[in-house]
Amino acid sequence: MFDHLKAQPQDKILQLIQMYREDARDGKIDLGVGVYKDATGLTPVMRAVKAAEKKLWEVETTKTYTGLAGEPAYNAALCGMILGDVVPMERVASVATPGGTGAIRQALELIKLAAPDATVWLSNPTWPNHPSIIKYLGMKMAEYRYFDAETRGIDFGGLMEDLGRVQAGDVVLLHGCCHNPTGANLDAAQWDAVVRLLAEKGAMPFVDLAYQGFGDGLDADAAATRLIAKSFPEVLIAASCSKNFGIYRERTGILIGIGDAGGKGVLQGNLNFLNRQNFSFPPDHGARLVTMILEDDALTADWKAELEEVRLNMLTLRQSLADELRRVTNSDRFDFVATHRGMFSRLGLTEAQVVRLREEHAIYMVGDSRINIAGLNARTVPLLAAAIAQVS
Ligand code: LMR
Repeated sequence: MFDHLKAQPQDKILQLIQMYREDARDGKIDLGVGVYKDATGLTPVMRAVKAAEKKLWEVETTKTYTGLAGEPAYNAALCGMILGDVVPMERVASVATPGGTGAIRQALELIKLAAPDATVWLSNPTWPNHPSIIKYLGMKMAEYRYFDAETRGIDFGGLMEDLGRVQAGDVVLLHGCCHNPTGANLDAAQWDAVVRLLAEKGAMPFVDLAYQGFGDGLDADAAATRLIAKSFPEVLIAASCSKNFGIYRERTGILIGIGDAGGKGVLQGNLNFLNRQNFSFPPDHGARLVTMILEDDALTADWKAELEEVRLNMLTLRQSLADELRRVTNSDRFDFVATHRGMFSRLGLTEAQVVRLREEHAIYMVGDSRINIAGLNARTVPLLAAAIAQVS
């Protein structure tokens, strides 16, 4: 049987991790996978997470199964963090999932159950796993323009033109904040216009929110998601705690479905059913830590303070990289790095330049020239800027 298997295409981001690991050169710089690193290159366990883990060890009395949807307290706490109070909870169904990817997968499975012919619209570019899962599930997809290769900002004209072709019942996947891979984000007026257009078209928004707290702050980063949540009869939101709680390997995510209050039971039942088919009960350890943090004022305050340090550190790195690139290229070509938000910026280099950076300078970034800002530090910013100036 196994000889019928075809080799699968490798995920570019994961492939890069492997190449970096195998590179024996001293001083190599990893700007690949989206994992936060401090100035020493470590991905720390956040203080509040450590404190919650310690407490959990003392108070946890059982490891029996959670419910299929996860622990209600987790779902309530996370829905509150994401949605605030913009939608009545009677309209909100949710399931805990293994990470943000698990939530995306379950959302797509739900769409497939409800409307197998619906087209899912993706920004061009988007996180490579979006089209990969859609293709795997045999669903229809289409692209809308997003990134202006000249300015490295938003191609808003192109975006609106493409979304103008969306049909009633289509699904439009939107990055709630901190667009991956570009780092370019819609402003408030642009979000308003997109929401109006999609509502007019009768499309359903599907928000991927993987970096809340990494852009402009926890609430600011949820603003577009909240606007969407209150503006449409039906919305899906896939959110991840990997980055903002730094619990990547605990696989902690949530899928939120907003519908009408009357249909909530059926929607919730379908979400539970999908969990059962795919993995039964969602993992609990990370979800439990998140719940403990969000339910305890002191832990919440400490977590928010550390998350804010992380966010400001990335902003400082952005500014210093933009400044350094201005200095070494004697131009404003890379000023956009300072205005981008979140973990990533797409630099707009060619694939050949990205290969040269890797081969000649041991600097690793994704082939589309996406860099993870958090992979930098005060020492490596000038090295990256000098290398970019040399190859571009
Ligand atoms: C990334 O885009 O680097 C992250 O979301 C990690 C991943 O799973 O690809």
